Amino acid sequence: MTTHDIVLEWQDGQTEHISVDEDETVLEATRANDLGLPFGCLTGACATCAGRLTVGDLTHQRPPRALKDYQQQQGYALLCIAEPRSDCHIEVGARIQAEMIVTPWK
Ligand code: FES
Repeated sequence: MTTHDIVLEWQDGQTEHISVDEDETVLEATRANDLGLPFGCLTGACATCAGRLTVGDLTHQRPPRALKDYQQQQGYALLCIAEPRSDCHIEVGARIQAEMIVTPWK
């Protein structure tokens, strides 16, 4: 089994390193390490678990229904269905989803 080193970066400067297998989602690994990342549906439909990939390669197990193409091009990923294909750096935390969604009411 291939395992990758994932660096999780919160916006307050906190970082954590975890090992994630290629057949494991990033969110599963964070839950196994008692790291409190937000999540909802666990199926790629709500975007509560969104993170932003800044280094490396992730793949989604299934089409990420809660992401538009342009959001994926900006590096956003759904960590409940995202598996690593290389070592990665990922920005995480509740504010990532808010940053990802542009609304005219902000
Ligand atoms: S928890 Fe809903 S998309 Fe990941």
